[in-house]
Amino acid sequence: MARNRSKGVEAIDMLKQDHDKVEKAFKAFETMDHHDTEACRQLVATVCEDLKVHTTLEEEIFYPAVREAIGDEDMMNEASVEHETAKMLVEQLENMQEDDPNYNATFKVLGEYVRHHIREEEGGMFPAARKADIDFGALGARMRDRRDELIGETEKAHA
Ligand SMILES: [Fe+2]
Ligand SMILES: [Fe+2]
Repeated sequence: MARNRSKGVEAIDMLKQDHDKVEKAFKAFETMDHHDTEACRQLVATVCEDLKVHTTLEEEIFYPAVREAIGDEDMMNEASVEHETAKMLVEQLENMQEDDPNYNATFKVLGEYVRHHIREEEGGMFPAARKADIDFGALGARMRDRRDELIGETEKAHA
């Protein structure tokens, strides 16, 4: 779609693009040659970075706006707990050697968690948010600025 990379992408579309990207990566991992540890390590590292940026944008900007607008505390709390679990798995992966027998399994479990979480966001939270009075254009702009900052920080850390 032509809108995809344009500047005016609103908040929910932006989050869905992230979801699609990581889901594709998890799928690609399944059919990868797992003896190619360097390629696997790179894919895992990219997914972990993407997930960290994505969850930070949701937690700092998107979730608070939605929480306030839809008043469904249970749904929002569940989403936050799921983020914590995903972050634990990301941290484990980042501290694990690629030849650890649990490396692939940990990434697979992370993928299962993330898929479940995405289904809940896209099937429940996002439709509920769309019905609420939220300025998704403005929210998207804030998220874009924050993303640029976060990506800048990672680049500095890896330099
Ligand atoms: Fe998300
Ligand atoms: Fe999320």
